Amino acid sequence: MIAELDSLQAEALRALHASDTPAALESWRVQWLGASGRLKDAMASLKALSGPEKPAAGKRLNELKAVLEAAFTERKSVVGARPAGPMVDVTEPGAPCGGGRQHVLTRTIDGIVDVFGRMGFSVVEGPEVEDEWHNFNALNIPDGHPAREPTDNFYMGAQGGALRLLRTQTSTVQIRAMETTAPPLKVCAVGRVYRPDTHDATHYSMFHQVEGLYVDRHVSMADLKTTLIQFARAYFGADAEVRMRPSFFPFTEPSAEVDIMMHVRGQRQWVEIGGCGMVDPAVFAAVGIDPEHWSGFAFGLGVERICMRRYGISDIRWLFENDARFLRQF
Ligand code: DAH
Repeated sequence: MIAELDSLQAEALRALHASDTPAALESWRVQWLGASGRLKDAMASLKALSGPEKPAAGKRLNELKAVLEAAFTERKSVVGARPAGPMVDVTEPGAPCGGGRQHVLTRTIDGIVDVFGRMGFSVVEGPEVEDEWHNFNALNIPDGHPAREPTDNFYMGAQGGALRLLRTQTSTVQIRAMETTAPPLKVCAVGRVYRPDTHDATHYSMFHQVEGLYVDRHVSMADLKTTLIQFARAYFGADAEVRMRPSFFPFTEPSAEVDIMMHVRGQRQWVEIGGCGMVDPAVFAAVGIDPEHWSGFAFGLGVERICMRRYGISDIRWLFENDARFLRQF
């Protein structure tokens, strides 16, 4: 029996040292020191023993119990003091993770807003999920107008009876600004717009526009052109030129397309960056502003176009792929 107890002790201590979590330690305790554990079994065998061997075996068993209890207490102080999980050397130097930077489009937006801000435009915002009133009706785009075709818009279904869509233009924010603020008014808005276009080098189903609106007494087309020229020179450089080509938008009369003369790969080139015009009296009527008393100009420019020209980017999709190798260049 003594020999058996010796090997029992060796086995128990081996198992104890292999237990390196509080849970493993507890199951060791139950298995060896528990009410129906291995030590209790050994005591039962001792009771069954008779003859001269018994006192010595009893002594050895008491000793085994003391050894296991002491070893358990000691092991517990080691395992319990250690948090679960892998050991981490907090003094080891960390792996460098590289610096972040502003997205080139965000930088463009900040640059544009900075210029218009210095020209006295205050920044306003509007929702990307719009109703038909702000995206169409108030902008003089009546029911049945081709611009409302489902193939040209992301309709989102009705909410409380009113049809919702992702705005196709930031001109919606002009309406919201005039609804909430009486003239004189000089605001700009930058934001995302959505159109179901097939993605290619110059088209994406989401892009950004910067909208400007100035309403005051006697605002003229000359004010509009001056504003656009000042913007172009401040943003693209003192030699930038602006050209306005007659065009049509339902919400302006007269209307024009805006081109900016830029250097593209060493060549001077006219690049179309947006539309503009004098606010149509029908738009003023929709928001309750008297067109006999007030006049205004508006413009809407494509932010990606401006960004791509300024930074020499030839594919709009790169702006949205978040490939760090591309973004790191700006
Ligand atoms: N909303 C027009 C578009 O998305 C751009 C535009 C044209 C905005 C003329 C204006 C404007 O404010 O006056 O194509």
